[in-house]
Amino acid sequence: MVLTETTQQPAGSDFLREIKDSPNQSLLPLTATVNAQDHLEIGGCDVTELVQIFGSPLYIMDEHSIRTGCAQYRDGLANNYSGQSLVIYASKALNCLAICALVADEGLGIDVASGGELYTALQAGVDPKKIYFHGNNKSRAELEQALACHCTVVADNWLELKTLAELAPGKSPRVMLRITPGIECHTHEYIRTGHLDSKFGFDPNQVEEVLNLLRNTPSLDFVGVHAHIGSQIFEREPHQDLAGVLVNWLKRASELGLPPQELNVGGGLGIRYTEADDPPSIGEWTATVAQAVEQACQQAQINLPKLICEPGRSLVGTTGVTAYTVGSCKEVPETRTYIAVDGGMSDNARPITYESVYRSLIANKMSQAGTETVSVAGKHCESGDILIKEALLPPAEPEDTLLVMTTGGYGYSMASNYNRLLRPAMVLVHEGIADVIIQRKTYQDLINHDRLPERLSSNPSTTL
Ligand code: LLP
Repeated sequence: MVLTETTQQPAGSDFLREIKDSPNQSLLPLTATVNAQDHLEIGGCDVTELVQIFGSPLYIMDEHSIRTGCAQYRDGLANNYSGQSLVIYASKALNCLAICALVADEGLGIDVASGGELYTALQAGVDPKKIYFHGNNKSRAELEQALACHCTVVADNWLELKTLAELAPGKSPRVMLRITPGIECHTHEYIRTGHLDSKFGFDPNQVEEVLNLLRNTPSLDFVGVHAHIGSQIFEREPHQDLAGVLVNWLKRASELGLPPQELNVGGGLGIRYTEADDPPSIGEWTATVAQAVEQACQQAQINLPKLICEPGRSLVGTTGVTAYTVGSCKEVPETRTYIAVDGGMSDNARPITYESVYRSLIANKMSQAGTETVSVAGKHCESGDILIKEALLPPAEPEDTLLVMTTGGYGYSMASNYNRLLRPAMVLVHEGIADVIIQRKTYQDLINHDRLPERLSSNPSTTL
């Protein structure tokens, strides 16, 4: 964080100086500015006004930043790799109709990890040829759904291959293999997947056996290999190493008469949640991966496969923010001040799940210096519902708009209705226009799927 010369205390507007060309390296969306009212604007929209119009909490996604990230990934692979390439958006980071349609409009494919994500991508009009279906325990119904739309299935285990073979006749499903590469990376234990003790993918010592099974099952169209080593990764070496491992498996496949077509290095590029986070840019990361795969293929003397990567967080994480309204402020003498907001762990489960750290500002007091370190508390009946343990903010008052940055990835997608709070709305902002892309839930929505058994409905206190 850069300190202002006059106050020596950072103000909200100082975060604007942090904006870089690569969206994943910026704490705020690329279009963030401060207007004459001293309010934060994103995508040409005044954040405080957005809250007045659409209510709070409010997820705000910046279209320009998302499009920029998509283009940097797409061009980064295309310009550094001599073969074909495709970027597929890992939609678990944020899956809804508009975001699927937006990334597809930028030419990206989509990675889905459940029947629900697949359904949404299809309803958004995404070309099934560019959809890849992941998951370590896809049900038979989900596999049928995948075969019906002809998307690619990334097979994770023996049961899936058996079921696919049963369903395959007449359909020739495209099948990729997810293999655990045994590559360690330094990230949170829960989001690390490349090490051998992982629930995902085939064990490397099963590769020979599984390739042989595919060779003997011509109804399955083997297209290549996939691995995902983890998420929020700042080093480039793990993906360089991964390139070599994946290419060796493709070479083995080709020796067994299964010509390699595609190689998928997964996602995982990290983002800047705080000033301490220093991930490579999307351009640097794609160049590293493309060059590593090309070199490994030259060494192994195999034709260049189509190179695929599947970023999630680095496309939507920093391009989204959550705006809250400040409510009660509680001072515990000589201990701390709690600033309570109108959301919490139900709209952002990451602090309580991973102890994730976020930065915040008061969107209607952008030039005011931070004077006090406070805790930003949610409104759930749970002491651990603290969004930010230590936030340096200007004096906050009820009705201020408190903004938490970098919530675009795994915020809404991991949200819940805990305490029957209503899931917030999401707007997509662009050049002064804000479109609601997810409506706020209503109280009626909360009970829409509740059913009251006859024997209870006679009780007057529960009659609707
Ligand atoms: N591909 C596969 C197969 C994945 O499992 C994931 C993420 C990705 C791609 C995208 O990874 P990314 O580029 O977003 O790092 N809920 C956690 C993150 C879980 C990541 C799950 N898999 C969090 O909030 O940090």
